[in-house]
Amino acid sequence: MSFPPDSARQTSVTLEQVSLRFDRGVEALHDLNLRVGDGEFLSVVGPSGCGKSTMLRLVAGLLRPTSGSVHIGGDTKLAGRQTRRDISFVFQQPTLLPWRSVEKNVRLPLELRGRVGDEGRRRVAEVIDLVGLRDFARFYPAQLSGGMQMRVSLARALVTRPSLLILDEPFAALDDITRQRLNEELLALWGRDRFTAIFVTHNVSEAVFLSQRVVVMSARPGRVLAEVPVPFSFPRNAELRAEPDFARLTGDVSRTLRESFR
Ligand SMILES: Nc1ncnc2c1ncn2[C@@H]1O[C@H](COP(=O)(O)OP(=O)(O)O)[C@@H](O)[C@H]1O
Ligand SMILES: [Mg+2]
Repeated sequence: MSFPPDSARQTSVTLEQVSLRFDRGVEALHDLNLRVGDGEFLSVVGPSGCGKSTMLRLVAGLLRPTSGSVHIGGDTKLAGRQTRRDISFVFQQPTLLPWRSVEKNVRLPLELRGRVGDEGRRRVAEVIDLVGLRDFARFYPAQLSGGMQMRVSLARALVTRPSLLILDEPFAALDDITRQRLNEELLALWGRDRFTAIFVTHNVSEAVFLSQRVVVMSARPGRVLAEVPVPFSFPRNAELRAEPDFARLTGDVSRTLRESFR
């Protein structure tokens, strides 16, 4: 895999001086500045309640900032309708419909867009294959493990070929081994399609393993406390986690994160 240098890439998401105060007076974000490059994999860590999910909802156009601006894909409109269609969201819970098979859950976003023709059907089969569930296409969510359900959730998010994938602690409920495996699979999917990814996690090692840059947020009201570049080359595999440089960088990010709790 060889990627153009970051400077050659367009910015995909820009948050400028973004503040957000909820109705009952809670200030979730204060003067947050963040740029995410086109095709970049960015991870975000920060104390619980610091505004990470709020920031993701702003990017997805589900919330509007109290002040400041959110730009998507060079579009100066706040996550306009056209661009919002191009964003997929993966949550901590797989949020699958229990009465639909794997195949029909994955197909849902295409149905909502009226795009289930032959090409849609091929794409559904392709993403199910990509997440390793070919033999489970006819299964129902209750018949799958937590890790498999999350794979379905990922397939459903990718079926529309989004240019921006937003992930809010997607693997937090999974055991360590499953989480690590899904990390590797997610990176393989990203290497293949090169969507822009914003990945929120509590797990520093996961953040470093996955991303090209880790953003550390401050305690609420959230702002960017530090941005740590992750220099390891792609493709990355499980061995990276055992390397001294990996441990050093993870330690650096953890120290910064501990400061953010003050
Ligand atoms: N809809 C809402 N109304 C009022 N306060 C909210 C709402 N959503 C989140 N908050 C508050 O905003 C802060 C940030 O929340 P959130 O973005 O969920 O944090 P994180 O994802 O980092 O844990 C928290 O104090 C939370 O209680
Ligand atoms: Mg959250």
